[in-house]
Parts: sequence; C-alpha cells; structure tokens
Amino acid sequence: MNKAQSENILVCIAWPYANSDIHQGNVTGSHLPGDIYARFQRLRGHHVVMVSGSDSHGTPVTVKAEELGRSNLETYELYHARFLELFRRLGISYDLFTSTHTENHFRVSQDMFLQLLKNEYLYRKVTPQMYSPEAGQFLPDRYVEGTCPNCGYTGARGDQCDNCNTLFESAAELLNPRSKRDNTSLVLRDTEHFFIDLPAIAAGALSEWIHDDKQHWRPQVVNFARNFIDQGLIGRAVTRDMDWGIPVPVDEGYDEKVLYVWFEAVIGYLSATIEWAHNQDDNDAWRDWWQNPDARTLYFIGKDNIPFHTIIWPAQLLGARGLYSDNPQATLNLPYDVPANEFMNLEGRKISGSRNWGVWMLDALDRYDPDPLRYYLTTNMPEARDSDWTWSGFIERNNNELVANWGNLVNRVLNMIRRYFGGIVPEPGELTDTDRALLAAVDEGFTTAAAYYEGCKFRAAVQEALRLSTLVNQYLEETSPWATAKNDPAATGRALYVALQAISGLKVLWAPVLPFSSQTLHELLGEAGTLFGAAAVREFHEATRSHLALTYDGAGAVGRWERDIVPAGRQLPPPQALFKKLEEAVAQEEMARLGPKPDVR
Ligand code: MF3
Ligand code: ZN
Repeated sequence: MNKAQSENILVCIAWPYANSDIHQGNVTGSHLPGDIYARFQRLRGHHVVMVSGSDSHGTPVTVKAEELGRSNLETYELYHARFLELFRRLGISYDLFTSTHTENHFRVSQDMFLQLLKNEYLYRKVTPQMYSPEAGQFLPDRYVEGTCPNCGYTGARGDQCDNCNTLFESAAELLNPRSKRDNTSLVLRDTEHFFIDLPAIAAGALSEWIHDDKQHWRPQVVNFARNFIDQGLIGRAVTRDMDWGIPVPVDEGYDEKVLYVWFEAVIGYLSATIEWAHNQDDNDAWRDWWQNPDARTLYFIGKDNIPFHTIIWPAQLLGARGLYSDNPQATLNLPYDVPANEFMNLEGRKISGSRNWGVWMLDALDRYDPDPLRYYLTTNMPEARDSDWTWSGFIERNNNELVANWGNLVNRVLNMIRRYFGGIVPEPGELTDTDRALLAAVDEGFTTAAAYYEGCKFRAAVQEALRLSTLVNQYLEETSPWATAKNDPAATGRALYVALQAISGLKVLWAPVLPFSSQTLHELLGEAGTLFGAAAVREFHEATRSHLALTYDGAGAVGRWERDIVPAGRQLPPPQALFKKLEEAVAQEEMARLGPKPDVR
C-alpha cells in the first residue's frame, strides 16, 4: 500500500479508573480489541495513533484511597504504574497511555469547558444536592445509593442505574437516598453548578449525526444511542463539590468545586493525542487526526460506557465548535464507530474485585505467555453478547487450537526443513495445482480476514486464520513430505517450500492477535526487523507532572498486509516451539486462587 492511500486512524480506548487492577473483562472489552484493530491497521500501512490513560479523578479514586488509607495521588500512581506494566507485557501497543492527572490534560479540559461556555452551551444552576449532616459535606453521587425511580432497583448509584442504564441529572432523583459510607440518611442542600445544555445541542447537529448513516455500527450500540436521544435529553452537571480533580476555570465561587470526572475523562482522547504530538516534537500533529475530515476515530469501550461515548462526548465536541481553530464553526471529528463490547464473566459469575472473582491480568502473566491469553480472550470476545472465561476452556483452546493446529504446523514444517535440508529453504521446482491452490487460499485470506478485522469482528478473524491453518495441515497430510523424503526429495522440497510460504502468510494474518509469537516466527523464517515496533515505558517530567507513560514506536509496522516470500536457499535459524501445552491440572489450581483472600485487592 502506498502512502497516498494511507489513512489516519485514531484508536481510542476507554480510560480505566486508577482504582483497581485490570481484569480479563476490561482487557477483552476494550484494550485488546483496540490493540488488535490498531495492529491490523498498522500492518495495512495506515497511520494509527492509539491513546488512552488512567482515569485518575472522581469518587472512584477517592473511595479507593479512603479504603487503602493512602492519598488520592498515591492511589492513582499505584494503579497507573501497574497498568503500564500490564500493557507492556500483554502487548497492548499504545502510542500513548497517559493519565488525566497531567498539566496538559488540565489545560485541554479547561479549554473545552471555556469554549462550551463561550458558545453558550453551559449554564449555571442552583440545585439541591445530597448533603451528609453526619459528615458535614456534600456527598458525591458515588457515595449515594438508593432506589432507581425508573426500574425499582435498590442498588442504584447517584449518577446511574446499573440495572437499566438510566443516567440521573442528580442523585436527588433516587428514592430513599442513603450514604454508602455509614448508611445514614441524606438531606438535600442547595449548591450551584455548571450544566451542559444537552437539549440545545441535540436539537441540531447531535440528532442529525446520530440518525445519519450508521450501517457499520453494531446494532445494539446504535439502537441504544438513538433511543437515548429520542427519549429526550436533559442538562447534566459538569462540575462537582469535591477537591480532587481539575479546577473549574472561572473567577469566583468555584474554589471548592472541580470538573466532573466524566466531563473531563472523555476529553482525554483529545488531550492524549495532543500530548502524543508534543512528544513527537510536532505540536500540530494531533490535528491530522482531529481536524482532518478523512481521519477515522474508533472508540473501544464496554457497554456500560455507551451513553458517554455516543451522546455526551459527541455533544461536548459539537458544543465546543471552534475549539483550537480559526473557524468558529469547525467541529473536531466525531466518532466514526463505537464498537462497544458486552461483558465477560468468569466461570459463569460476574467479575467482582471485592470477592476476588476475576482473572487479574498482571498476575496471570506471571504464569502464562501473553499470546495464549490474547488468543483465548479473542476467541471469546463478547462482541455480540456476554461471554464467559472458564479455566478449562482456556486450557482446551490453548492445547487443541493454538498448540495442536497452528503451533504444531509451524513446528513440523520447520523441523522437517531442518532434518531433510539442513535448515535451508528447499528449491520448489515447478508448483502443482494443489500447491498453487493452497497459496491462493492463503492469499485470499488477506482479503477475507481484512474484512473481519476492519469490521471489528475479531472472533471471525481468528476463525479464518484457524481455518487456513487447518488447510495447510491437510495439505501436509496429502503431500506427506516425510514419506517422500527417501525416494522423491524434489517432492519433499516442493511441499515444504509451499507449506513454508503458507505459514509465512499466516504469520501476518495472526499477527494482530498473536504479536509475540508472530514476531518469533518472523525471526524463525529468517526475516530481519520487527513486524511491529517496540513498546517502552518512559518518564515525561516536563510535559506532565512527573508521571509515567507507555509509548510505542511503530516505525517497523508500516504496510505489510501480504505474504512475505521466504526465498529458496535461505538458511533458517534453529526451530523453537511457539506455544506450550498446558496440563489439565492447571484449571483446578486456578480455581483454587479464586474467592475471598485475606489480601483482597
Ligand atoms: N473510567 C471509566 C470506566 O472505567 C471509563 C472512562 S472512558 C473515558 O468506566 F473516556 F471517559 F475516559
Ligand atoms: Zn434502573
């Protein structure tokens, strides 16, 4: 693919709260699909920027800090560092994984606030808020629990009902409000806040946009978003009575208030792209992803985040028209797609931090290689409905598919080339129809698999690669190069040459899902360089407040969506196995790790 055809693609991934370790549901819900998509597009030769960061403010962090007996800052830094380590080890190839606790993000968030104010989409309003007479302070929504007025669910939170997804304008809408801290009753007290005028924004461009062509969107996502708007929007507060967060950039009366965490966290997609550009020593580079109408932006999120990414964030972007532009009407790019995933359970039960019911990914990486974890999470990705992680399923798929189908194929071919030809790629001679048909099938795989990857149908992409791997295995059975080795070395050489070229194609088809083993295979095939760039954790002291960030150098990845030809006569390095078989007993060991522990996270 030449440069002229290459597109700018911004891959945005939901910002994890810096208040708990990341589990398999988070990974399969957003980080992994975003990573697979980004790697695929890099291989295709597109200019990808993939961003996210730690969502470090708001009550999710303050509640945790209280629990840990640490400061808010220490709490955020603790989890942030663990996220970076996880993404590096799991190969989640962020161009930048930063955090909302940076000067850059503070500035961009305040700029967007001021632009909305200038465009008259923010208004001040005094409303009664939950106040705890017991604690002598306003109580953030997260500390408020009550009964949902819409569905009657008794565990509804102050900002949202997790049962029916209703968002509340204020926690005052809850019936029987009480404090989560001490279970005491709460009273209402007046306080002024800024509100975003969602009805005014929706009346124009927002409704138009959400009703525009969305053929490529997942039906459950676009239906949810359209219903949400069609039911009528209400103004939403964008400030909070709190001291942990981003100061409200107005002169008076807001000293003890901050921007609402959800208002500023989504702005992170923009601020992170700006920070990334700054780190490239090209301060304007972000504009090619946000102001170029041909650039595409995809948001990889879990289903609980759909309203924020399909309605509220687009409303913020539309309402802040003119931001960072000479043209007061210019709007930054709206989402091209929001391929939200459903949830992944564990052994049939919901993931729960407090009950230690989850696959804690950083912990799992101490026992398993990254690619088998990525593989299982992709084959079970909750693209259309909730899915389930079972340890026996993990072992089964690792052993029966990754090892027995794909890994063994690679092993057999490389070992036979070693045994019969001293590791030198044999001359093929004239190819037969069978040979050509196999290579044609693999080459067609680049079209079929591309359509799946492009459409964020990653389970289907894996099935396609697996199907082709099976075809190559069948080809080997038919040609039996081990049987012809004695009497017909030419036939053996031809079959192994063809199988090797097929494997070289599959290496690329698998690479977005299995980047580590594909890189190993790349080297075993005697190729130089890397399929993808390298990730590194770096410190950025000046641009930010001395936080760590993950960066990724993707220079190596540009434009390889095709089968590399491995030339005859090349000396291959000694083979090595790509994957390991797992013992059945592993499932019991893992099950024994689940459930309450003294050291719950
Ligand atoms: N931290 C939020 C969550 O885990 C997601 C925020 S996405 C963002 O649900 F874009 F707003 F950052
Ligand atoms: Zn409800």
